[in-house]
Amino acid sequence: MSEAQPVLRLEGIVKTFPGVRALDGVDFSVFPGEVHALMGENGAGKSTLMKVLAGMYQPNEGRIIIDRKPVVMRNPIEAKQNGIILIHQELSLAEQMTVAENVFLGELPRRRWGFVDWKVLEERVGSILAKLNCDFGPRTNVGSLSIAKKQMVEIARALTHQAKVVVFDEPTASLTDAEKVVLFDIINDLKSDGVSIVYISHRMEEIFTISDRITVLRDGSYRGTLVAVDTTEDEVTQLMIGRSLDYSRNIEQGEIGDITLEVDGLSCGRLYSDVSFSVRAGEVVGFYGLVGAGRTEIAETLFGLREPTSGTIRLDGEAVSIGSPADAIANGISLVPESRKEQGLVLGMNCRDNITLPQVDDMTAGPFVSNGAEIAIYDMYRDRLDIKAPSWRSEVGNLSGGNQQKIVIGKWLAMKPRVLIVDEPTRGIDVGSKAEIHSLIRELAHSGYAVIVISSEMPEILRVSDRVIAMYQGRIMREFTADEVNEDNLVQAISGIGNGKAA
Ligand SMILES: Nc1ncnc2c1ncn2[C@@H]1O[C@H](COP(=O)(O)OP(=O)(O)OP(=O)(O)O)[C@@H](O)[C@H]1O
Ligand SMILES: [Mg+2]
Repeated sequence: MSEAQPVLRLEGIVKTFPGVRALDGVDFSVFPGEVHALMGENGAGKSTLMKVLAGMYQPNEGRIIIDRKPVVMRNPIEAKQNGIILIHQELSLAEQMTVAENVFLGELPRRRWGFVDWKVLEERVGSILAKLNCDFGPRTNVGSLSIAKKQMVEIARALTHQAKVVVFDEPTASLTDAEKVVLFDIINDLKSDGVSIVYISHRMEEIFTISDRITVLRDGSYRGTLVAVDTTEDEVTQLMIGRSLDYSRNIEQGEIGDITLEVDGLSCGRLYSDVSFSVRAGEVVGFYGLVGAGRTEIAETLFGLREPTSGTIRLDGEAVSIGSPADAIANGISLVPESRKEQGLVLGMNCRDNITLPQVDDMTAGPFVSNGAEIAIYDMYRDRLDIKAPSWRSEVGNLSGGNQQKIVIGKWLAMKPRVLIVDEPTRGIDVGSKAEIHSLIRELAHSGYAVIVISSEMPEILRVSDRVIAMYQGRIMREFTADEVNEDNLVQAISGIGNGKAA
């Protein structure tokens, strides 16, 4: 690779937003056929750099050089014409249009007199979808597709345009393990066709599985480029956050109190059945299992989003019926949902209001909401969660992906629930803040909350839980104490090989 010329070079890229210097003279280059990972804390500037590359933002300073020629790309279509395709962190397809229309968005193939040639279009898209083993066709409406399939549509877009560089911005955040395998196969195929990949992710295992080189950004500055086979997770973390992480078990054992939440024989159609467990005040119970094991559905039932078909839920010993999220909140149950984008935030609203809005009612003793009190609450969560935003007035929609997630977590914490359920709490969150969120979860339990953590990341479950419940296909297979649980018995239990109290 040493004698090869980079297909792409970014030189001295500066990008500012009001109050933020998002990129401060970043250099970045990509060789043909390499997978180049881009890493950095939440808000480091990764997505912004890629949006500059994809013509969505114009840099204040700096040059973009493609195949040794400086180029100016004024919009995503010009970037596409230069062989650059960006697959967004927040997928950006037109939901009401068909797959084929989305693939050619903005540049439909035309016949004479300017008519769109639908036949050609659908044939071309159809053959690419077939190549990707997609089980949907060019005429399918994008709105009806799952996230993984929408991602396939974006990939089809890249293939149709003979991309030189395809950028994936946190592509696996919402994919199942099986879908991830498909994605990695596609990336390897692209690579062997000489296409370069820029891959953004906070998941170290993925980075070390597929990337050739790793470039690290920090606070909008270039920190260095490492060769994957010659470096370690620790070295990358050091570059990203300026220190190593202490992965020692983070069990700040508080006093475990009485049972707060008790679930008995809960079932919900085919989603899960005969689920019984309890959570005490001061305790963190981790739910581990494969995607589809029923964990999220149980959380949704406890939060009033799904009606159980049988079973009882007791709070402090009393049976409750939770018909809606409002009921759940009134009973002191909060859920930090898995898909925070849809369920948690008002993007056009500022940071403070997103965190404090749900409790404005409590604070409005008279006709005025106490502005000072709200800002104080926001400040506290900003510090605890290390939220990077220019001010409480900043619109949440302008924050980086990970910082938006921290706002949602803050919002639910601010409600001071008795039972807090967090579903995949650190998805999309950088390694440093991840450790912070883990200690915050421990601390919440310590101060008397009953906490349920659902996660697909085993290290996370092992680090935060006092007890671990392993689920497989809608059933609880085993329950472990923190002393009993380890990677081996947990893997066994969630693959259905468990020998415990399998139902
Ligand atoms: N459109 C915008 N308006 C104002 N500020 C912005 C805008 N886009 C990004 N920023 C700011 O620029 C900085 C870099 O954000 P960016 O989204 O590039 O981070 P990131 O590295 O992708 O983080 P994450 O891992 O959380 O996705 C952040 O401080 C963010 O708030
Ligand atoms: Mg980002």
